[in-house]
Amino acid sequence: MLEEVQKGLEGVLVAESGLSSIDGDAGRLVYRGYDIETLAREASYEEVLYLLWHDELPTATDLEAFSDRIAEERELDVDVLETVRRLANADEEPMAALRTAVSALSASEPEAEADPEDLEATLRKGRRITAKIPTILAAFERYRLNEAPIEPHPDLDLAANFLYMLTGEEPDEVAAETMDQALILHADHGLNASTFTAMVIASTMADVYSSVTGGIGALSGPLHGGANQDVMEMLIEVDESDRDPLDWVKNATDEGRRIPGFGHRVYDVKDPRAKILQARCKELSEASGDAKWYDYTTTIEQYLSEDQGLVEKGIAPNVDFYSGTVYYQLGIPVDMYTPIFAMSRVGGWVGHALEYQADNRLIRPRARYVGPDEAEWVPLEER
Ligand code: CMC
Repeated sequence: MLEEVQKGLEGVLVAESGLSSIDGDAGRLVYRGYDIETLAREASYEEVLYLLWHDELPTATDLEAFSDRIAEERELDVDVLETVRRLANADEEPMAALRTAVSALSASEPEAEADPEDLEATLRKGRRITAKIPTILAAFERYRLNEAPIEPHPDLDLAANFLYMLTGEEPDEVAAETMDQALILHADHGLNASTFTAMVIASTMADVYSSVTGGIGALSGPLHGGANQDVMEMLIEVDESDRDPLDWVKNATDEGRRIPGFGHRVYDVKDPRAKILQARCKELSEASGDAKWYDYTTTIEQYLSEDQGLVEKGIAPNVDFYSGTVYYQLGIPVDMYTPIFAMSRVGGWVGHALEYQADNRLIRPRARYVGPDEAEWVPLEER
């Protein structure tokens, strides 16, 4: 047995996986061998889900059938909708509401009784969860605004339908494409904290609802998925400070603030997803004629990377650095950014749960005990 503790499991190999691979030195990410740039440009989110869950790209017929099934499974059971309404009325945080609602979904799962070893049933359950998450989030947002939820639009793909259910208006092509691309970029990323959480749960042969619920909890933290919201809140803070962004970031680093959206356990260079989202952010800024947010981010990035020398230290922008400004320009409320990350990453959680359960071994590491060797028991009344 290893004697050394690998804090944060850094560099520890715990499984083999064919889903995604990250080259942190070259800044390369692939899903099943396909470069993220190619997938972002050529594929749809549904196509990527199929790839992650079925090991290969779908044919046109497979994709149509798969997308249709997802579209058919979007509606929520009335009890789940009521749970979402109550959570919105109670001012619950969106990630916490999503966690609760996904957990509640299992009560209306038609294959609840399926054998945990029936991985085809697990895949179908995962597909139902994936189909319903956008409906949960959009309904939550509508209830918060005291508006009625909008029924899913059967003819729109998952990304466009999400934007439609948020606003009641069909998104234009740029918005729909941007959302779809953002979902592709976030769908899988090796054994990140939330995927590992989902996998640990799957390794007990618990059902996929538990894996996804656990994944949402792990993703919500500021060191993981919560960073995209933090980045946007930081940019709003810069804006409201009325200071020059360069001054602001100099001051923030002097105060020792850790800038969200920078740094990554695996990448030593700029995250390839950040490059794609940066280009999207630029395009959206040019189209709207307002480059303020793009300018803030690039100023902060340049100062941290070059003047503060973070590039040499291997601390570069990660996916969260540019996703916030992209969502902001699509008019999405800031506290919905991490839930959108979950709406996409569910693809990876389900994929890894399926992959791990196909050759399962309970995940059960050890801790080096550093407590006292022998302690003398003192009765309660004598303490
Ligand atoms: N700004 C300034 N310095 C940083 C930053 C940052 N954002 N991130 C890491 N560092 C420094 C840190 O101070 C430390 O320096 P030193 O060795 O001199 O003490 C060194 O880099 C290593 O940091 P660490 O926290 O030990 O590294 P880690 O691998 O445990 O942390 C991280 C990775 C993502 C938690 C961290 O970079 C961070 O907190 N970033 C900000 C939050 C963030 O953007 N999270 C999203 C991650 S990517 C999306 C996702 O997968 O969810």
